[in-house]
Amino acid sequence: MLTNADPVTHHFRFLFAMPKKSPEDLRSFRWFGPDTQRGATHRQRFHQLGYRREDFIGKPVIGILNTWNDINTCHGHFPERVKSIRRGVSQAGGLPLELPAISLAEVMQKPTTMLYRNLLAMEAEELIRSYPVDGVVLMGGCDKTTPGLIMGAISAGIPAIYFPAGPMLAGSYGGRSYGAGTDLRRTWDDRKAGILPEEEWLRLEREGLRAPGTCNTMGTASTMTSLMDAMGFILTGGSSIPAAFSGNMRLATSTGERAVEMVHEDLTPDRIATRKSYENAVITDMALAGSTNAAIHMIAIARRAGIDATLDDFRSAADKVRVIVNLKPSGEYLMQEFYDAGGLRAALNEIADLLHLDAMTVSGRTLGEEIGGASIVDADVIRARSNPIIDRPSLAVLNGNLAPDGAVLKVTAASERLLKHEGPALVFDSIDELHANINRDDLEVDENTVMVLRNCGPVGAPGMPEWGFMPLPRKLLKKGVRDLVRISDCRMSGTSYGTCVLHVAPEAAVGGPLALVRTGDTIRLDVDAGSLDLVVDDDELEARRAALSLPPRVYQRGYAALYVDHVLQANDGCDFDFLAGTAPTGEPKIF
Ligand code: FES
Repeated sequence: MLTNADPVTHHFRFLFAMPKKSPEDLRSFRWFGPDTQRGATHRQRFHQLGYRREDFIGKPVIGILNTWNDINTCHGHFPERVKSIRRGVSQAGGLPLELPAISLAEVMQKPTTMLYRNLLAMEAEELIRSYPVDGVVLMGGCDKTTPGLIMGAISAGIPAIYFPAGPMLAGSYGGRSYGAGTDLRRTWDDRKAGILPEEEWLRLEREGLRAPGTCNTMGTASTMTSLMDAMGFILTGGSSIPAAFSGNMRLATSTGERAVEMVHEDLTPDRIATRKSYENAVITDMALAGSTNAAIHMIAIARRAGIDATLDDFRSAADKVRVIVNLKPSGEYLMQEFYDAGGLRAALNEIADLLHLDAMTVSGRTLGEEIGGASIVDADVIRARSNPIIDRPSLAVLNGNLAPDGAVLKVTAASERLLKHEGPALVFDSIDELHANINRDDLEVDENTVMVLRNCGPVGAPGMPEWGFMPLPRKLLKKGVRDLVRISDCRMSGTSYGTCVLHVAPEAAVGGPLALVRTGDTIRLDVDAGSLDLVVDDDELEARRAALSLPPRVYQRGYAALYVDHVLQANDGCDFDFLAGTAPTGEPKIF
């Protein structure tokens, strides 16, 4: 069956009726136009590249920020897609210039890509500001590339449009779809429990992921591209198109075209990243059961645009809508099936009454215009509001004496029996300590234990890795236990599941209350009440605080040292204190 999931294209209207900027009004003219020695130098260099004068003077110059590299498996098709983007730019009368930017390959980069999200944001902003570009196409998709590029582009302030890599094709195992990340973790637990034959395991390693593109569950990559789509930075619906589909190529061409048109229209990020579009993204996140990581990234993105974003926005959005998208890890299906079911446009149309439909998108049309008429093709994949996949909010924002500034829990990926729980803490001071002890046969642990991992936050790790989905003790796995309450100041992958309380703020390494917990203390979690507490009296906690010494810094030099000195806590988006906000940065002097 044909779907209506592709972006609606309106380019004939623009290409024929588009108001054009005069050459002098283009930003790039400051480099290429002046009859000065410096202007002549710039022109001479472009002639050196083989361009004619008319190729680069008076045409919108479009920078293509490409986060491709040989190790980012999710962006493996970018060398082909960039050709389509270039074609789109040229067809619309612009000059495409590829500007490679650091690629954050989620699975490969250690200790975590989160450590480098802000580096990409800085690189994107400075690439845009320091070079003669009038607009940009941002090529990303793998988890942190999306917020990193968008944060930088918002701060740079010239027209910017996002090209999402698109999800990889669905895998298959045992007659059922096999999703990246989520299903590997499930089958790994089976292997660890000794119930999966070696041969079967090797087949899964070899064939589990069989095409380029981002993780095909509603993990962080699909969450963030979907949210940037809902926020207006992607041609609406484009985030749902699988990477290997021809539609992804057409999207690339249209994205290149629109980048040129956006320059002529002065469609800058401040017209797209508004309080309304931010709220649209947050409510979409709840309807999708998006990754917990979105709570950090969305706050960081919004604050770059001067929006006063907090975790309360997520708490109130979670109360307004239930999960209608039936995708792993909360549901059953994968992104390819989501696309076939109508994709994001259909899902957004289902929650249209909760959206600000007058929010502007990169197409130059409003979100309401872009999603109008989109319909659901498969009502099991994209549910009607009256038939959510679970009758609970997608995300819980928790507070209490253990998380004064907040923590989050993905309710839809947690175990119902653990949503209200009280149990004894089992504390690990580091990820090394956890891995050294978790499989000991004499570990004192049972199904009521609350595992605690600390010193793994933005400052402690540093970079807040995805260690919050702690491995379960082997002795419990063998007994059939598949979940415990787990609490940490780090994150977990959007493809993970389990009753994992994450992003506890302030983190232990800066003296947050998580640092005061001792093995055997009682911890109380009540998701419906939104509370997370350490059941220890205040005098005892004060005595522990007085005796507390903070862990030494892991890195003493380089970027990581800068990171530790300036990173904000999770509830503030983990941006750098000197990057958040909208303090203006002037255009570079050209002499
Ligand atoms: Fe790149 Fe999941 S590893 S999107």
